[in-house]
Amino acid sequence: MPAREVICGDGVAYLARRLPDDHAIFTSLPDHSEIPALGVAGWRAWFVDTVAAACRAVADDAVAVFYQTDVKHDGRWIDKGHLVLSGADAAGSHALFHKVVCRVPAGTTTFGRPAYAHLIAVSRERRLSPGASTADVLPALGTMSWSRAMGSAAAEAAIGFIAETGARVVVDPFCGQGTALAAANAAGLDAIGVELSRRRAAKARTATFADRP
Ligand SMILES: C[S@@+](CC[C@H](N)C(=O)[O-])C[C@H]1O[C@@H](n2cnc3c(N)ncnc32)[C@H](O)[C@@H]1O
Repeated sequence: MPAREVICGDGVAYLARRLPDDHAIFTSLPDHSEIPALGVAGWRAWFVDTVAAACRAVADDAVAVFYQTDVKHDGRWIDKGHLVLSGADAAGSHALFHKVVCRVPAGTTTFGRPAYAHLIAVSRERRLSPGASTADVLPALGTMSWSRAMGSAAAEAAIGFIAETGARVVVDPFCGQGTALAAANAAGLDAIGVELSRRRAAKARTATFADRP
């Protein structure tokens, strides 16, 4: 059985370490509404710095993968794909892919959260040959265990990619209820999660895809 460890604590502090070579990161950073004390401008800077810390935490040839959904705030579109790539640039990492995950069928107008999420993989030294390409547009995100969860189908796609890189351990420093950890274990990879909320950390310790609605 693949292992799972969930730490109830600060994911940013966790990212200050250099992870072993066989570790990859797969995560969704919190939205500005989850850290209201920062304000939107402060959160943007925090987000970019934290992406950079995640990029620096993995080994030179390892990958960090981010699943993020944009938000509209005060009549402005906050593009988290741009913020992820800004953080990656600051850490000297480059994109290996930038996929779009449809949250609703293409052509649907949404008035709240946008109709797609970003799935972005970055690395400092790894390169992907054209033959290693997979679909750039994922037609459905799968099921979500709660409103801020990763979609299960998107998580499975990301973990499939991470497994191909040779990683053995998946780290999610903002693991919420544990979607990334469940997907990693289901694929035979060990998983480490960090989560500030005691309640969500407890759920993350036992989450499986079978728990989904
Ligand atoms: C977008 S949600 C992640 C959802 C998760 N991917 C899932 O599928 O359940 C972000 C999570 O980060 C947590 N969080 C916020 N600040 C944190 C911090 N400094 N350290 C660790 N977790 C934090 C929030 O409590 C929230 O559960």
